Amino acid sequence: MKIVSSAPGKLILMGEHAVVYGYPCIVTAVDKRLYVEVEKVSAGEDKFITPQVKGHRFLKETVVFFKEKYKIKDSLKILTRGDFSHKVGLGSSSAVIVATFNALANLFKITLTKKELFEISHEVNLKIQKVGSGFDIAATSYGGTQYFIKGGKVIQPLNLQRLPLVIGYSGLKADTPTLIKQVNKQYQENKKKTVLIFNQIKILVDQGKDELVKSNFEKFGVLMTKNHMLLKDLKVSSLKLDKMVEVALEAGAWGAKLSGAGGGDCMVALTPENRIKEVERAIVKIGGEIIRANVNSQGVRIEI
Ligand code: MEV
Repeated sequence: MKIVSSAPGKLILMGEHAVVYGYPCIVTAVDKRLYVEVEKVSAGEDKFITPQVKGHRFLKETVVFFKEKYKIKDSLKILTRGDFSHKVGLGSSSAVIVATFNALANLFKITLTKKELFEISHEVNLKIQKVGSGFDIAATSYGGTQYFIKGGKVIQPLNLQRLPLVIGYSGLKADTPTLIKQVNKQYQENKKKTVLIFNQIKILVDQGKDELVKSNFEKFGVLMTKNHMLLKDLKVSSLKLDKMVEVALEAGAWGAKLSGAGGGDCMVALTPENRIKEVERAIVKIGGEIIRANVNSQGVRIEI
């Protein structure tokens, strides 16, 4: 019997970096998914077929963890495929972990609540990455849009109707653990200033949460742009990301910011429907790439 589970990618809308220090963030699941197919095979080594080189390590660790925890002796064949590249920063590693646990639990008839799935996935992710808040694991497990506090202390669904976002990929892969360490260095060297930035980000996130559920996009956009400025102060942006944000705003976006660790990966621009084409064109003109995806998408699931 083959079981296929899929889990969505994610985008952080506000609160990156500060979330690592216990402040809240807002994260949403995208409708680009990562698929994991599992089946029992006759004796031998577990077989992994994964074109995603980075995902391979996450996949293996997840399988080892699952087999040890639930005392599974069977040999397995595991295959992955994705709607998105691991290079763009949509969270392929967290989606691999969560979809794999979900598929294996289904195959071996083990019931896992969402919270249990989140917790074991976060544990495996931390074992490999060493650092991180777990927001990406929450997004891919629960789906939708969540107000999140580190380690899953709070995972609060936000009721959104829609969110007209333009997603621009900078063309560069961000190195999340390195950027987290870089911010930590600043935190150690100048705690007062860094905490001040985190506190300002928290205020934006909390206001953002209220505006978002009321679909006050104009106000939410302004808060996003302010959040980008604070990320610039944290020195995690890049010239390319700043430029992409700038041209998106000039082309009529309500607000724009980098999304994720910074340095590379994606930026997002909250944009009135009638300005989307202009904003996309402006981003492409300066060398960005548009990623077409809807947000507020469904969390991990079994594919029938
Ligand atoms: C990375 O996409 C977002 C960070 O806040 C890291 C994390 O929360 O794990 C920088």
